[in-house]
Amino acid sequence: MLKTHTCGELRPTHDGQSVTLAGWVNRRRDQGGLIFIDLRDRWGITQVVVNQETAPAAHQIANASRNEFVLQVKGTVRIRPEGTANPELETGDVEVVVSEIVQLNAAKTPPFYINQEAKIDEIVRMQYRYLDLRRPRMQQNIVLRHRIIKFIRDYLDARGFVEIETPILFKSTPEGAREYLVPSRVHPGKFFALPQSPQQFKQLLMVAGYEKYFQIARCFRDEDQRGDRQPEFTQLDMEMSFVTREDVLTLIEGLMTEVVEKISDKQLLFKPFPRIPFNEVMEKYGSDKPDLRYDLAAVDISDLAGKSSFPVFINNVAEGKPVKCIRVPGAGALSGTALRKQGEEIEGIAKANGAKGLAWLALPPNEGEEVKGPLGKYFTVDQKAELFERMGAKPGDLLMFISDKRKIVYAIVDALRRHFAAQLNLADPSKVAFAWVIDFPLVEWNEDEKRWDPSHHLFTTPNPEDMHMLDTDPGKVRSFQYDLICNGYEMAGGSIRIHDRKLQERILTLIGQDLAHAEKLFGHILEAFEYGVPPHGGIAPGIDRLVMVLAGEPNIREVIAFPKTQAATDAMVGAPSQVTPKQLNELYIAVTAEEESEAENPT
Ligand code: AMO
Ligand code: AMP
Repeated sequence: MLKTHTCGELRPTHDGQSVTLAGWVNRRRDQGGLIFIDLRDRWGITQVVVNQETAPAAHQIANASRNEFVLQVKGTVRIRPEGTANPELETGDVEVVVSEIVQLNAAKTPPFYINQEAKIDEIVRMQYRYLDLRRPRMQQNIVLRHRIIKFIRDYLDARGFVEIETPILFKSTPEGAREYLVPSRVHPGKFFALPQSPQQFKQLLMVAGYEKYFQIARCFRDEDQRGDRQPEFTQLDMEMSFVTREDVLTLIEGLMTEVVEKISDKQLLFKPFPRIPFNEVMEKYGSDKPDLRYDLAAVDISDLAGKSSFPVFINNVAEGKPVKCIRVPGAGALSGTALRKQGEEIEGIAKANGAKGLAWLALPPNEGEEVKGPLGKYFTVDQKAELFERMGAKPGDLLMFISDKRKIVYAIVDALRRHFAAQLNLADPSKVAFAWVIDFPLVEWNEDEKRWDPSHHLFTTPNPEDMHMLDTDPGKVRSFQYDLICNGYEMAGGSIRIHDRKLQERILTLIGQDLAHAEKLFGHILEAFEYGVPPHGGIAPGIDRLVMVLAGEPNIREVIAFPKTQAATDAMVGAPSQVTPKQLNELYIAVTAEEESEAENPT
């Protein structure tokens, strides 16, 4: 090795030892006869001191060094003189008095600071990702990712799981998102598809008798980008045979609990993880992945509102539309103008989400004052008392009333919860709030296509208790799908699968798949289902999202070494890129459109 110690290693116990360090110049301070260099590597920073008198050659090199030069430094460890220790550095009690420096490599001035956190243009970060990744925060994230994946592998290995790789060149089959296609040269006009997940292979591995499978699997989906989505992402993909839903939930809950407690610096808010039926989570939070670090739950007050004299509520309730109320502690205590402005703001949020308005009531902070807000006059004194009681309202609280079609109500409840959580800092960044969402509907009505779509995927088994409604009222049938949510993200999704060809065919028919066509797409699965299939189920936590939450980052790009930009490109290598006419010819492919503008929406 070109170093005897790392730059994060030296302590007072090393006093007097000869050492060799190597790393990057984090910072250089020139005090004439003395030059101080903070030398950085992945493990930390150590201060080295170069004295012109005792080491003139080294001083000359130090003098010519700039930030990000790569140096090898030989010298002796000493305890820093009284009053010069740096408590910010783990190595801050010592320094290395340099006898010799070798400049291993020079560096141009980087396009952004590596030695300090600053706002950097996203496209520049992505173009120079190797420099971006050199920054300590990014290195911590990437190492955390490694620790988490290593822990997962050991945890599952200790419980009898086998890691099995499955193909990346797969077949085009409808699974939800749009696929990435790969043309075959050997078979003109035919294509592989990159897997959206190893779903079908893992089920086939269960047929093959492996019983407990996992894989750190790369998945590919050509869908719109968001902060928690990448076209290429990683799942902990798992499948188990002879299990019930309970077995899968217990295993993953144990794994996540240990990952959080042993690997991260976050605390679990709930132990055990709550289990919330899909209907309940929607009614309370308006979203199937609410952030449960704060409450702000919606309460159904349709019965009370229907008795008020507010015409909108009376009509809506008569039409079966709900009236929901959210209480925000303290948000009603604002004074005149501020209260009115807040009212306009929340009404704006409701309207942006499709409502006609948003009524509210502010409870004054002091006894004896009048309730404020546009709705006060429509409720009698007794009705108000009943409302406050139901809502647990206290002086100074704000009550918001949302009434419309159920879907619109959900969107507004979700938006208002997020709004006040951000405004009042309700989401504790040191906490992680895992919860299970269970009892999803098996299928959802697709109004555009006029057909039933699977809520999860078409291999999910219906809950046997609801099987009698499969033909008559499919929208009411619950499935054995489960999602793991955390801090407002969907962390994992999975289900107990269908393991019977007849039932699989029934579901295919229900979702409008012609059986002859389905045979072409899924013939391999249907046929396998005739050769002794164990009951099985599985789940797939998103690794990127898990690391993002445990690293406290707002975007999964921060925890992926080489992610794609918002525009699904790799700005560093310049991909996707054009290929030569010869390559296209070999693939029997003709390009019929040119990209309009290369620079369009780059990040
Ligand atoms: P699902 O499609 O719900 O299920 O995906 C499982 C988990 O993968 C993560 N995820 C993503 N992460 C980053 N970028 C994306 N574009 C992206 N899409 C999904 C999420 C999600 O919860 N085969 C099934 C699993 C199963 O049934 O076992 C599947 O893929 O964290
Ligand atoms: P008005 O008495 O007509 O001035 O309206 C009272 C309040 O009801 C206003 O603040 C409106 O924004 C609000 N409002 C109107 N429609 C709805 C609705 N569907 N749900 C909740 N509030 C509404």
